Amino acid sequence: MPTTGSERRRTALVTGASYGIGAATAIGLAEDGFDVAVTDLDTAALADTVAAIEAKGARAAAVALDLRVQGSVEAGFAAAAEALGGIDALVNNAGIPMTRAATEITRTEWDTSLTVNLAGTFFMCQQLGRHLIAAGRPGAIVSVASTHGLVGFPNTIAYGVAKAGIAHMTRILAIEWAPHAIRVNAIAPGTTETETRAPSLAVPERRALMLNRIPLRRFGDAAEMAAAVRYLLGPQASYITGQVLALDGGLTAY
Ligand SMILES: NC(=O)c1ccc[n+]([C@@H]2O[C@H](COP(=O)([O-])OP(=O)(O)OC[C@H]3O[C@@H](n4cnc5c(N)ncnc54)[C@H](O)[C@@H]3O)[C@@H](O)[C@H]2O)c1
Repeated sequence: MPTTGSERRRTALVTGASYGIGAATAIGLAEDGFDVAVTDLDTAALADTVAAIEAKGARAAAVALDLRVQGSVEAGFAAAAEALGGIDALVNNAGIPMTRAATEITRTEWDTSLTVNLAGTFFMCQQLGRHLIAAGRPGAIVSVASTHGLVGFPNTIAYGVAKAGIAHMTRILAIEWAPHAIRVNAIAPGTTETETRAPSLAVPERRALMLNRIPLRRFGDAAEMAAAVRYLLGPQASYITGQVLALDGGLTAY
């Protein structure tokens, strides 16, 4: 459990916290007693999340952080740590979908997906790892991967490879940072009905086709994903590290 003493509240940083899984997780962590730094491309879109965190009686800090730009990753992490007096837990939630046939995807599209989804996630982990190891404090990371990184789906080459990279990165960092009491885990959501996904899931034939592949015959929601992140960051998960937990209604059980 990331804590340094009774006088200091636990702190977390959540990327991409304006909507969907990131917002639900940030607000849930406030309920669990964390003060929360929320980051996204701009701070205006974070206003609702900040208000919801503060309504739970926790402190919130909104920080602009663009995962494509290393200077922004470093400055954003430093600003969050400064605002909350250190960071104990990191949720790498921000990510971008990319649906392209393998014959069509361009080098630029590939680079964008790998830069945001994989490199951005890793360099955020690096920031927290350096921060905690220098301070001699324990901590925890949960990254949001995807079922697309566990099994192959057509037309998801760059997204799927990036998410598979997050799963493997999770195992490597868990081992490398175990001596520092930093736990590193990931969740792999299946299709989750968030604001950004809702329009594409509204097409009836597509919806029926997708639901037919899920044993529980429904999509997940942001609160279900947030619940797993909260568990993995919390005291009940103190012996769990290096794991990727699929939250997919049974999709990958086939
Ligand atoms: N919704 C799903 O069906 C689903 C399924 C599996 C995995 N996921 C993953 O869950 C995570 C959240 O998904 P969601 O549906 O809630 O997404 P979302 O699109 O609602 O949120 C993603 C956030 O990431 C931010 N972001 C995008 N580019 C960024 C950049 N360069 N730097 C910093 N932030 C950036 C966006 O502004 C947005 O707030 C993503 O990593 C996604 O890949 C989602």
